[in-house]
Amino acid sequence: MKVYHYLALAVVLFSCSKTNEPTQSTIDQRVDSVLSQLTLDEKIGQLNLPSAGAFTTGEAESSDIAKKIEQGQVGGLFNIKTAASIREVQKIAVEKSRTKIPLLFGMDVIHGYESVFPIPLGLSCSWDMALIERSARIAATEASADGINWTFSPMVDVSRDPRWGRISEGNGEDPFIGSEIAKAMVRGYQGKDFSGNNTIMSCVKHYALYGAIEAGRDYNTVDMSHQRMYNEYFPPYKAAIDAGAGSIMASFNEIDGVPATANKWLLTDVLRKEWGFNGFVVSDYTGVSEMIEHGIGDLQTVSARALDAGLDMDMVSEGFLTTLAKSVKDGKITEKQIDEACRRIVKAKFELGLFDNPYKYCDEKRSKTEIYTAANRAEARSTAAQSFVLLKNDKNILPLKKSGTIALVGPLADAKENMTGTWSVAARFSESISVLSGLQKATEGKAKVVYAKGANLDADEVLETNSTMFGKGLHRDKRSSTELLNEAVRIAKGADVIVAAVGEAAEMSGEAASRTTIEIPETQKELLKALLKTGKPVVLVLFTGRPLVLKWEQENVPAILNTWFGGSEAGDAIADVLFGDVNPSGKLTTTFPQHVGQVPIYYAHKNTGRPLAEGKWFQKFRSNYLDVSNEPVYPFGYGLSYTQFEYGEIQLSKSKMTADDSLQASVTVTNTGALEGKEVVQLYIRDMVGSVTRPVKELKGFQKITLKPGESKQVTFTIGKNQLGFYHQDLTWGAEPGDFQVMIGGNSRDVKQVVFTLAEN
Ligand code: BGC
Repeated sequence: MKVYHYLALAVVLFSCSKTNEPTQSTIDQRVDSVLSQLTLDEKIGQLNLPSAGAFTTGEAESSDIAKKIEQGQVGGLFNIKTAASIREVQKIAVEKSRTKIPLLFGMDVIHGYESVFPIPLGLSCSWDMALIERSARIAATEASADGINWTFSPMVDVSRDPRWGRISEGNGEDPFIGSEIAKAMVRGYQGKDFSGNNTIMSCVKHYALYGAIEAGRDYNTVDMSHQRMYNEYFPPYKAAIDAGAGSIMASFNEIDGVPATANKWLLTDVLRKEWGFNGFVVSDYTGVSEMIEHGIGDLQTVSARALDAGLDMDMVSEGFLTTLAKSVKDGKITEKQIDEACRRIVKAKFELGLFDNPYKYCDEKRSKTEIYTAANRAEARSTAAQSFVLLKNDKNILPLKKSGTIALVGPLADAKENMTGTWSVAARFSESISVLSGLQKATEGKAKVVYAKGANLDADEVLETNSTMFGKGLHRDKRSSTELLNEAVRIAKGADVIVAAVGEAAEMSGEAASRTTIEIPETQKELLKALLKTGKPVVLVLFTGRPLVLKWEQENVPAILNTWFGGSEAGDAIADVLFGDVNPSGKLTTTFPQHVGQVPIYYAHKNTGRPLAEGKWFQKFRSNYLDVSNEPVYPFGYGLSYTQFEYGEIQLSKSKMTADDSLQASVTVTNTGALEGKEVVQLYIRDMVGSVTRPVKELKGFQKITLKPGESKQVTFTIGKNQLGFYHQDLTWGAEPGDFQVMIGGNSRDVKQVVFTLAEN
């Protein structure tokens, strides 16, 4: 019997691999045919996703994992790279296992591969969807040239809590721009289809609501109304799915008291039945076994619950591998349910073309010529410059002249290993461009750059150790804070301008890197104070993976450029912007609070029954604080340029319409400054009266335009039911008649506004 199975399977695979054209049977038929020849254990094997860790092929071959692959107990592998290593492992699957089913090879290719782009939160501040799509395209090209066919990206968790370290991995607080970015990333990774060998399957994550964990403490509980889920947190996941994302990752957190990993409502009712998703669902790292700690059962129980809920693949826990067969026997789940999960995974492999050519992504020639190329690095450099946000520029200190003496100071100034930020697993840290190197190159033969570290990251050595993991050291200076500071002040006194590269280290944000104090560490603030005392102009070049509280900096430092973590080419990109070769145009996609106590703070809040009167910052019995105003330091959408833009009044094509109709809102934007620049024109809408309370404004459109000095452009937005509809209390969707406020401006605070009426149909 076994022999018969083996041969029949070989025939199916052979007929598939003989031709590039799909055979007469559709993929579905081919999948059925494969499935019909697998034993229960082999089907369960397809649902297992172990991590290869740091294994090279040799080690993998003699390891437990190699044996498991040979025995048909592995569906995919992650954390392994290079075309040659992956070819070796794939060989075990397709030549030594009975099933001969090729493996998926996954990796967290989050913001670039070896050519590293800005962290996602930074990238989102470019508001440039073509640019973002290109960054994902390049990431896919490089990763696929190294053997990888599946990326755990995009991460689209809306987050309004800067204490959460993983806010750095997403696109900020807003579901509208978050959805646009989700689509752009999926398009970039997956391209038109998987017919070539440089498009890879995306995995949208972390489904769902992971960005809303309580207190910003990683892996914590989530609890929210369904109305809020549908209106504010679900849209980016759905957008990625609508764009064709092949897989989705369940999040660690619970929803309605049930971990996402075993949440049937989430994984089946919403995802499959409402949204029509037909790819596969993978757990997060040990997401299955963690449900034991969540307290909903032992490994067998949680594994069965996860499968029953709609989870298809188990990352690392091996709960599926070790307990599902028993659960079938015990009648807890059916073999049909396992077939379903297995079918989805095998189908993805067919879609990727792995049955036709399991070595499709193992082209060693491509590894040599398509990774970390000059062109990709140039694109990473120009992209980084588009992600920077100019927060302040008193008296036009910036751009700097390439002359005189520039004192470069700060723990992030000569810190190439930290430039790529969190989740840059394939980066060549030691080759990244530091600020020091970028500034030196840009000014060679024209200006003198002098450098001193000035301070360690933090006075607390333990905190520095915990914030500089994964090869991203900051080379702690053993001298005392005073010695470091004095040296910096000495060189600063002899300079014409001071550039202070300060802020967070790369691993102060990202996974399991939550903070309760979201400020520049005290030691570095002391350095800034001492530098300001010299009376020289100070430019703060900020490194951060989250919105920080910059109240003191905004009040005291004349120029602030937020560079996030710009990627492998960060230092060159920073020089490009500091010297005005690139005019900054980034705009924030998260609110920067004035105090951590305001968190969660976001622009699209509700009005409440007791809003503060305009212009006031405290009124008794109103919704406010005794000690700080409700205002942020920098609102959502905010960002300056080296030039200035003026907005005209909004013109509406009509002041009344029905929901089947649409109208145009136009505004003329003029560059009133002396330099060419880019401006992100933002459209916000407020539904003045609803059957449920509505936010004070919601982003519903944006356009990034380029204007020469003195030039004006008319920007037009079309408004129809898509911009006006929302999920009601019963979770039906639609626009409600009444008045709507239209607001257009260069950030969420400073807007022009008009009103129109949506009439009954
Ligand atoms: C993270 C995911 C990641 C996975 C695999 C988890 O800890 O939450 O974002 O994709 O590890 O590396």
